[in-house]
Amino acid sequence: MKSYILSAVSGIALVASTAAIANPQAEVLHWWTSGGEAKSVAVLQEEFAAKGGEWTDMPVAGGGGDAAMTALRARVLSGNAPTAVQLKGPAIQEWYEEGVLADISAVAEAQGWADVLPASIAGHMKCEGTWCAAPVNVHRVDWIWANADVLEANGIEMPTTWDEFNAAAEKLQAAGVIPLAHGGQAWQDATVFEAVALGILGPDGFHKAFVELDTDTLTSDGMVAVFDQMRKMRGYVDDNFSGRDWNLATAMVMNGEAAFQIMGDWAKGEFMAAGKVPGEDFLCASTPGDGFLYNVDSFAMFDVDGDDKQEGQALLAELIVGQNFQKVFNLNKGSIPARTDVSLDEFDSCAHLSAKDMNESSANGSLLPSYAHGMALRGAQSGAITDVVTAHFNSDMSSADAVKMLADAVANSM
Ligand code: BGC
Repeated sequence: MKSYILSAVSGIALVASTAAIANPQAEVLHWWTSGGEAKSVAVLQEEFAAKGGEWTDMPVAGGGGDAAMTALRARVLSGNAPTAVQLKGPAIQEWYEEGVLADISAVAEAQGWADVLPASIAGHMKCEGTWCAAPVNVHRVDWIWANADVLEANGIEMPTTWDEFNAAAEKLQAAGVIPLAHGGQAWQDATVFEAVALGILGPDGFHKAFVELDTDTLTSDGMVAVFDQMRKMRGYVDDNFSGRDWNLATAMVMNGEAAFQIMGDWAKGEFMAAGKVPGEDFLCASTPGDGFLYNVDSFAMFDVDGDDKQEGQALLAELIVGQNFQKVFNLNKGSIPARTDVSLDEFDSCAHLSAKDMNESSANGSLLPSYAHGMALRGAQSGAITDVVTAHFNSDMSSADAVKMLADAVANSM
């Protein structure tokens, strides 16, 4: 009764003050569900809560984000988009073209993002000149991880060429160790494939094949050699690889069941979450060959009604690119900060190697977007390539047939 009288008497004032004190809200769709990933996203949840934000978590399990993207499409089609979504690469612009993304330029400009983000990263965050996504990190994809004890016990050094890798794998296999920990999911096959392709085709060949979709390169002898190497890789994997999650493959390297994994540096987040020490328990090196394949995680805000939600979006965007968040998040995630002004003093040797190689690659033109992680191509094209990679990996298809199928699939996806 009391509250009824109060609101009847001062109805307008009450509504106004309620709106002013409503906490910022965010429903956040992401696919960070492994140990290291969950620890990382918790950093954002905590910072958001510390500023009074109310976070509704929408995790969609599934490495690489395919399941998350399916869930997103269903939500948008039903007219009920989440507030903030882990989204990256050309998919950001594809959603923008559907007219469903919010403009976060006001935050970006107030926070001076243009001054602290490399132009190559900022480019991915822009839609027709406006800021439409906020970058979290730079993951490197072309990494090889190894169990230090297993390599030592078998007298093996980190391979620097694919021939050395093959020789090491054969030696390990003869000693009864699984050479390559792998999870048979299409995106994991694509991750290994693009690392092999970068090594064999070189940075220019990679660009021609997976950025320009150049037919001559897609059907070249070099591409045949890439599929030949993939056939070898298939032989280095254990029989139970089908459907295995990537973090379980990382665990096989951790516990010495397998020697190597080829995976982006979110794998390092798993090693770190398990208390493993780089250089002692596990080793990191770039996969054989030149170049650097980058994969920038970012969040886009979807058009939603309600001041509390829009405030939530602005707060999230500000926190994501904030200096402290970029440090703490990336220490957990295995990646390096997207901002150029975050000190790497507290980061490990793998992160330092990543930063050094990224700068060198940026200077010599070999810094390349990962096709397997949605940074290089639109969904239809990258999906067409991955279908062929997976079909080849899981059958006895010849390299010559795979190359032909690749060129046809790409042509049909345009
Ligand atoms: C994302 C990472 C994530 C990984 C495995 C990649 O595509 O960029 O943030 O950890 O998939 O889920």
